Amino acid sequence: MAGKLIAGNWKMNGSVSFATELVEGLLGKINEDSVSADFVVCPPAALLGTVLSLTKGTDLAVGGQDCHANVSGAHTGDTSAELLKDIGCGYVITGHSERRTDHGETNADVNAKSAAAIKAGLTPIICIGETEEERVSGDTLSVIKAQVTESLPGDCDPNNIVLAYEPVWAIGTGKTATPADVADVHNFIRGLLNDRFGEDAAKKIRILYGGSVKPANAAELLAVSNVDGALVGGASLKVEDFWAIGAR
Ligand code: PGA
Repeated sequence: MAGKLIAGNWKMNGSVSFATELVEGLLGKINEDSVSADFVVCPPAALLGTVLSLTKGTDLAVGGQDCHANVSGAHTGDTSAELLKDIGCGYVITGHSERRTDHGETNADVNAKSAAAIKAGLTPIICIGETEEERVSGDTLSVIKAQVTESLPGDCDPNNIVLAYEPVWAIGTGKTATPADVADVHNFIRGLLNDRFGEDAAKKIRILYGGSVKPANAAELLAVSNVDGALVGGASLKVEDFWAIGAR
C-alpha cells in the first residue's frame, strides 16, 4: 500500500480568494518539505476550476464532494463523475453522512455513485459510519457491515477505492472516537474486505478515519492499526493544521 492518504473535505466553505490562499499555502509546503503522505483537497464544486488550475502538474490531488450516478441528463444542480474526471479530478467523496442526512442518500445510492465514479476513472472515497444512537444501542458493527456490503459496487477493483470510517457523532463535534474504538471498527472493516476480496487484494484498500481529526490527535489516530489516512473537515481549512495532520 502507498503511504497515508490525507483528504480535506472543505464542505460548503470557501471563496475564490480563500481557495487560492489555501492551495498556494499547501503547495508551498509540499515543495519545501519531503512528504510521505498523499494529500487531496475536495473543494465545493464551484471552486474546482480555481483549485484545479492551481494544482495542475503538482502532487496535490483534487476531488469532488459528490457525483451523480448518471453520466449526463436532466439532473439540475448535479455533477457527473465523467465531468469531474474531465476537468482533472482524481477522487470523489461518496456517501458522506451529510449527503446521507441532507439528501436522503441510501447505501444503494452510494453504491451507484461509487460505481459511476469508478467507471469514469475516479477513485471514490466511500464514507460509512454509525450515528450516536446506533453506537449507544450496540449496533455499530452491524451498521458498518451493512454499509460496507451495500455501498461498495459489485465489481470494484481494490486498487481504486478508498473507504472512510466516520462516526457521525464525531463529525464537526470536537468529539473523537478513542484509538481503541477506531481500532475495533477499522479491524472489523478490514476483515469484511478480506472476506470479500481476499487478503492480498484487500490490503490495497486504504481505510481513512474521519471525525474531528486535528493536529493534536492525528498522530495517535494515524498510528492505529488499519488506519491508512484521514478524512478531515474543519482542520482542512487551515494550511498549518491540514499540513500538520499528514506531514510527520
Ligand atoms: P470534521 O469533518 O473533521 O470537521 O469533523 C470530517 C468530515 O465530515 O469529513
